[in-house]
Amino acid sequence: MKTLSIHSSVGKDELLIYKERVEKIHCMLDKYAATGWIDFPIQNHQKLFDSISYIASEIKACADVLVVIGVGGSFLGARAIQEALTPYFGLPKGGIEVVYVGLNMSGAYMKEMLAYLDSKQVYVNVISKSGDTMEPALAFRVMRLYMEERYGDKAIERIIVTTDAEKGILKGIADKAGYRQFVIPDNIGGRYSVLTAVGLLPVAVAGVDISELMNGARHAATELAQSDLAFNDAYQYAVIRHILHEQGYSVELLASFEPGLSKFHEWWKQLFGESEGKNRKGLYPSTVSYSTDLHAIGQYIQDGRRIMFETLLHFNEIEGDMAVPYDMRDEDGLNYLTNRTFNEINAISKQGTALAHAEGDVPVIQIELPMLDAYHLGYLIYFFMRACAMSACLLEVNPFNQPGVEAYKQKMLQLLKGEKAAKK
Ligand code: PA5
Repeated sequence: MKTLSIHSSVGKDELLIYKERVEKIHCMLDKYAATGWIDFPIQNHQKLFDSISYIASEIKACADVLVVIGVGGSFLGARAIQEALTPYFGLPKGGIEVVYVGLNMSGAYMKEMLAYLDSKQVYVNVISKSGDTMEPALAFRVMRLYMEERYGDKAIERIIVTTDAEKGILKGIADKAGYRQFVIPDNIGGRYSVLTAVGLLPVAVAGVDISELMNGARHAATELAQSDLAFNDAYQYAVIRHILHEQGYSVELLASFEPGLSKFHEWWKQLFGESEGKNRKGLYPSTVSYSTDLHAIGQYIQDGRRIMFETLLHFNEIEGDMAVPYDMRDEDGLNYLTNRTFNEINAISKQGTALAHAEGDVPVIQIELPMLDAYHLGYLIYFFMRACAMSACLLEVNPFNQPGVEAYKQKMLQLLKGEKAAKK
């Protein structure tokens, strides 16, 4: 069985018109400096993985909570994997609680978290490639002082820094204090870094099997290295969304039917949004979690402005399921479902949704994987990164920079430092 399959209403002939262009982009991709993620899963990083597993075991043995400090690409991937692969309720199997801070500047969030930590043993993993992003920098200032107050000299053992090998304020702080460090490779940008120590340490602490995750990513990196569009599913997805975009659809809705994937949606949204939204171009990436959103935004999707197409993400098997129980009273009239499980009904609701939306003139792309587990999630992450790079290049924008993010930072800094220029 294929690891991933993709279906859409775009015909093969229409797709293959892009064959040569895709091949050309494929061969030119490494002209960009930030493509270290492409071969990372197929290179030998065993020493790094061993060191991540070793420190993760130490954290699990000595702490109740790992506080991850990071924003954007420095936390979204880890939180996506954690939420997708750990239980909905209670502590993860084989892991400990992982919480995130530095992803916002809410004083209430920060204060509540510190109070929450007071009754727990804590480790901190601060992640920032540049080392000077305001949100995580502020959170780290708070957490560092908190750890020093609680653990004194021993705080140094409980703070792990993931940052650049050479530059940045955080690197300087880490060297001076003697914190243990993981390196974010220079040639891997934030939103493409989830399969490095950036994502791997937090999820290993949460109990995720990182070797399975990387096995899946490795499989994808091998399969999707194929330059021929006819055999490369990631490139096919990129071309299909490009064709739909050219037809006038300006929004892509990523939809799935498993609530544990809602944070994965956030990771996907950032990947495509920051990679493509440049020079007044790019599909607007939006996401929905079904069934919940069928009863919220479903009306608009079915019947509102025809500006969107939908990408349905589906895992055929989900660990954990239950049958609809028999009730002899049948007052709710649901006994006809008693030979079905919830996951079966969920899968049928997906089919129904795809049919209804297609009938309502919402083009539907379906991406299917056999099972929601570490292996297939690793595959899917790599799949989307490959597709995203190709898709941005088809739009003729650089997939690996984010100049627009600087605009708000500059205004904010001017305002914080009282400069009048920001007020005009
Ligand atoms: O994709 C990106 O590069 C960004 O989203 C960054 O990850 C984000 O801005 C955080 O940057 P840093 O890791 O430098 O703190």
